[in-house]
Amino acid sequence: MKDELSNRLSNAPVVPLIGENDAGRAVATANALSQGGLSVIEVVMRSDDAQKGMEAIIQQTEGLLVGAGTVLTLDQCKSVLDSGAQFIVCPGLVDEIVTYCLGKDVPIYPGTMTAGEVQRAYAMGLREVKFFPASLAGGVPMLKALGSVFREMRFMPTGGVSAGNLAEFLALPSVLACGGSWLTPAAAVEAGDYSQITQLASEAVDIAKSARA
Ligand code: 3PG
Repeated sequence: MKDELSNRLSNAPVVPLIGENDAGRAVATANALSQGGLSVIEVVMRSDDAQKGMEAIIQQTEGLLVGAGTVLTLDQCKSVLDSGAQFIVCPGLVDEIVTYCLGKDVPIYPGTMTAGEVQRAYAMGLREVKFFPASLAGGVPMLKALGSVFREMRFMPTGGVSAGNLAEFLALPSVLACGGSWLTPAAAVEAGDYSQITQLASEAVDIAKSARA
């Protein structure tokens, strides 16, 4: 799983976030992203029905790698894994979640924003972490500083990333991929404007190609 995830992220280093209560809309959003060239998707657990939306995506789509984001507790982590989540993303660094995922060989991206947190993640054996909230935590200059000392660590900046600054983040060799909700605007999802979502995904793929060229 880890290798497959790494391959996909090196081809298209962008992870769109889906935060949708309605399972039908979650599936349509995931398909729209996939049509635009993004096949690694994070479904954020921020509403009562988010997990059902993730399950629907896993059951009703093909060719996607679907992870659960905004995972706050170990119980929640176990539950989303039971539902079929293929990777876990957390806003912060919770040791018991990291240890559990490492033990099960499940890719885990805990949120970090300080050198202390990155070092703790490093000590636990992680070499890939989320950097959150990327823009408020110092953005590209902070990532350059962290990357210069944690030379083996790769970061997934999320929080404040958009089509406008994606290229700057992806130009850093320490950046594994960028995550964000700009690819799934709530208004477009509510209006059923899935072509806009495909368009945003395909624009992100193009930006990533030029940034990594
Ligand atoms: C996250 O859960 O990683 C962030 O809330 C996403 O931030 P964004 O909405 O600015 O992309």
